[in-house]
Amino acid sequence: MLVMNSKEYICRCEEVTKEEVLQAIREGKQTLKSIKRATRAGMGACQGRTCSKLITTLLLREGVPEEEALELDKARFPLVPIPVSSLEIGGEGDV
Ligand code: FES
Repeated sequence: MLVMNSKEYICRCEEVTKEEVLQAIREGKQTLKSIKRATRAGMGACQGRTCSKLITTLLLREGVPEEEALELDKARFPLVPIPVSSLEIGGEGDV
């Protein structure tokens, strides 16, 4: 007897289903990043190349505003600027 798997995977790498993503959205996760943290979708081998667009599409279909759904990672700068010369071997930062 053939048993069909009714699960619809959004993230095949982490085996996250559409229902799990929709549940996270219903619980208030409104960005790709928050969905990723809640479900692990996008943390697999392809690093979200396959599933990010699907998750974004689900967010938009569920009525999440586009600017919120498409929130991208922000650049994080070092806390203290360091001179480039300190990166050289024998530079001023070398001990
Ligand atoms: S399909 Fe989601 S991380 Fe690869």
